[in-house]
Amino acid sequence: MATSKKFYIETLGCQMNVLDSELAAAALVQAGMLAVDRAYDADIVLFNTCSVRKHAEDKVYSALGRLKDWKKTNPGGILGVMGCMAQKEQKLIFQLAPNVDFVLGPGRLDSLVEMIDQAETGRKPDRSSSRLICVSLDRTAHRHTDVLDSFRQHNPDRVLSPGMPLDTVPLDTDTVCVPDRPSGHGESPTLVRITFGCDQFCSYCIVPFVRGPEQSRPPKDIFGEVQHLARQGISKITLIGQAVNSYQHTDGEKQTHLADLLYYISDIAGIEQIDFVTNYPRIGDDLLKAVRDLPKVLKHFHVPAQSGSDTVLKRMNRHYTAAYYREMVDRIYGTIPGSTITSDFIVGFCGETDADFEQTVDLVKYCKFRNSFIFKYSERAGTKAAELYADDVPDDVKRERNNRLLAVQKESG
Ligand code: SAH
Ligand code: SF4
Ligand code: F3S
Repeated sequence: MATSKKFYIETLGCQMNVLDSELAAAALVQAGMLAVDRAYDADIVLFNTCSVRKHAEDKVYSALGRLKDWKKTNPGGILGVMGCMAQKEQKLIFQLAPNVDFVLGPGRLDSLVEMIDQAETGRKPDRSSSRLICVSLDRTAHRHTDVLDSFRQHNPDRVLSPGMPLDTVPLDTDTVCVPDRPSGHGESPTLVRITFGCDQFCSYCIVPFVRGPEQSRPPKDIFGEVQHLARQGISKITLIGQAVNSYQHTDGEKQTHLADLLYYISDIAGIEQIDFVTNYPRIGDDLLKAVRDLPKVLKHFHVPAQSGSDTVLKRMNRHYTAAYYREMVDRIYGTIPGSTITSDFIVGFCGETDADFEQTVDLVKYCKFRNSFIFKYSERAGTKAAELYADDVPDDVKRERNNRLLAVQKESG
């Protein structure tokens, strides 16, 4: 590959994508490329995309359309779509955005450099693109072990020299939904993945389909990575997973859970601050005790409730009730005085009545969240909710409920 090619990555979505963009940037830097912070200065433009709501996808398609001019002035330029939309839309991306040279699913990040190479060498004689696609297997249509294999666990070394490459990954604040964490001062925490994928199948959510089956990384890989980061001077880390507290690794007789990881990582010299996102509302006492007793662990939980109505939670396939959630919140505050909690909510989910919504308002008032992220329900094709329930709450009602809940959060936080 020619050296000193310039690349630009635009990141949408959650902390999974933020980390993937860092890993992608590291791989490209290691392959001799240079990061730039404007698409128009780049030879290679990558979109690391999110499918969680339609709005996030629409933004990518319009941004890809806008890059027509870049392609005209840069006919050898390579445009790649990575991330969750790549896995969800696959070939459809080439139809809707004919500029795109390759589509790379999040489970195939290890093939990025090779894809760029192939896109460069595989140009047709008229310089048009050969349109490459590299995605994981559909989890509903193949053997489980083959699907697991196709979502590869890719964790290469990151390049952490000052400003590189973390600062080269601009975030779109309109669509990125990385929960804010009390990170103290200075350096922002370095993300370390502990689980891949998701097996919760909340009825509204596309993530289990695009990120594949849940897999917990072996503890020794996680420690190795954190030790390595600590040796490079990193002192704050955030452990990430879609349901991070369902981390569970079995090795013979030995089982490791998130609480155990927190104890082990606390012992790594140089690590001074640890936190973890995102939690499913099933916080066990062992985890609470670890957070209480370990001074390096932030006394904070991002634990999305999604709704305060039991009928809505049931349709959402969330396996808890509002009463359980309140009891859990009481337990967190009771066990760890001074702790903080943040949450996510979806308003206007299928069949949500005014009375259901008022129960969500009550929950927000009760829980004293430090912050809540509030989203209007967006139907995602392929999910159970799209199959079973009508998206029947009008958009203006969704908007009203969104604004009202934001106001309630502001008052009660
Ligand atoms: N794994 C995390 C969240 C992943 S997505 C968790 O379970 O907490 C981040 C947030 O997006 C979710 O918490 C939910 O509030 C929201 N979300 C997911 N699917 C959505 C959809 N179809 N429409 C609107 N919001 C959605
Ligand atoms: Fe989606 Fe639910 Fe998994 Fe979160 S836990 S990623 S909301 S399916
Ligand atoms: Fe979006 Fe994928 Fe995260 S769908 S929310 S970027 S896991």
